[in-house]
Amino acid sequence: MAKKTSGPSVLVVHGPNLNLLGEREPEVYGSISLEDIDGRLAELGVELGLRVESFQSNSEGELVTAIQQARDRHAAILINPAAYTHTSVAIRDAILALDLPVVEVHLSNIHKREEFRRKSLLADVVAGQVVGFGEHSYLLGLRALATLVASET
Ligand code: DQA
Repeated sequence: MAKKTSGPSVLVVHGPNLNLLGEREPEVYGSISLEDIDGRLAELGVELGLRVESFQSNSEGELVTAIQQARDRHAAILINPAAYTHTSVAIRDAILALDLPVVEVHLSNIHKREEFRRKSLLADVVAGQVVGFGEHSYLLGLRALATLVASET
């Protein structure tokens, strides 16, 4: 049985089309569903003493609002902005306005893909990136955030 934890809270933010994980281009993104990734993050959160809450949206505005609202509710953000990585000044600005550690993750190695995916508008405003390890990118990113949150408290 999973232990309950009341430690600091991490908001996991998933961008557009990640709700389709498992069915969507499995040769690129793997066969794991978003629900399973969230379940694994929650389990790892218990081990790391973190509460983990997940949010997915296909809408840029909803993602911006979730990031803004994290200020009062969470200690850190783990984000896969998906396609908005490459286009969203609004998500970049929301992260800049936030005084919380943010780690950016990608299932695929965006640097090995099409030219337009190699640029992340967030890369220089986040604490770090983990890319190319499938669901393990998220798990490694959560471990990195645990270290950052611990060093701030
Ligand atoms: C992605 C990479 C993005 O380029 C793409 O638009 C996605 C997923 C990844 O996790 O590899 O939707 O963020």
